[in-house]
Amino acid sequence: MKKRVTKAIFPVAGLGTRFLPATKSIPKEILTLVDKPLIQYAIDEARSAGIKDFIFVTARGKSALEDYFDVAPELEATLRRAGKDELLEVLKNTNMDSGAIAYLRQHRAMGLGHAVWCARRLLSNEPFAVILPDDVIAAEKPCLEQMVEAHQETGGCVVATMQVPEDKTSSYGVLDVASEDGRLVQVKGMVEKPKAGEAPSNLAVIGRYILSPRVMDNLSEIRAGSGGELQLTDAIAAEMDKGGKVFGYRFEGTRYDCGSKAGFLQATVAFALQRPDLRDEFGRYLDGLIAQRKAAE
Ligand code: G1P
Repeated sequence: MKKRVTKAIFPVAGLGTRFLPATKSIPKEILTLVDKPLIQYAIDEARSAGIKDFIFVTARGKSALEDYFDVAPELEATLRRAGKDELLEVLKNTNMDSGAIAYLRQHRAMGLGHAVWCARRLLSNEPFAVILPDDVIAAEKPCLEQMVEAHQETGGCVVATMQVPEDKTSSYGVLDVASEDGRLVQVKGMVEKPKAGEAPSNLAVIGRYILSPRVMDNLSEIRAGSGGELQLTDAIAAEMDKGGKVFGYRFEGTRYDCGSKAGFLQATVAFALQRPDLRDEFGRYLDGLIAQRKAAE
């Protein structure tokens, strides 16, 4: 029986400079798609995949994230007095059991691999998940849950993957494919942000990982890679050098790159159109806007 995946690391130390000035005083993970912060989407997905322990790797200026997951006694009392049970229910989702969430700081921005490594003392010899909240994935069965199921069968490491256009591969970790079987891709190598024309495939790593404990050891051993930073991709690639198995998992669902403005806006529109309370009014507005644009062409 394989060990269950119950711990997830959320690297949330980034400055979010692409969203300035908003991120001057608000962590980018608290920016909302419709009315729910990016981080809440990540937490909901992790919970439904069976994650019980949530490890946040934060940085200076990010304490609003800790407040977000705390209880809000005054707000709750006000809502209760006003009989606003639905909103109380919404708030419940933002609460964490005491001890279920841990925050630690990455003191210097030394890359994603380094951020994950900062959590090493909170893990024992068990597989763990990593979720990048910038990547929001809309799916009938949440992406991490799909991956946990795949991991139950394969063991080793499982990383989420999807095809991207060839001219975009240099923005991602990219898989070197050994063989493919349905949604599973057996991997023989991984390259972080390959130069144009040098990508081994157009299968990009998306921000969901289930990693074997040895990847944490690898993070202590690797040197700085792409961009002069410690790269998680390189620690996973090192796993293959040691004989470990690594799989890409072509998840079912739509991924939005909420680390970019265009992706963030696309997610906002798509999610608004799925909301029963907004769908009709917002849909009519969009139809009108498109008609206006067409008329102006
Ligand atoms: C990170 C990872 C990269 C991965 C990407 C997915 O890059 O380093 O391998 O493909 O997330 O979003 P970043 O977007 O932080 O530069």
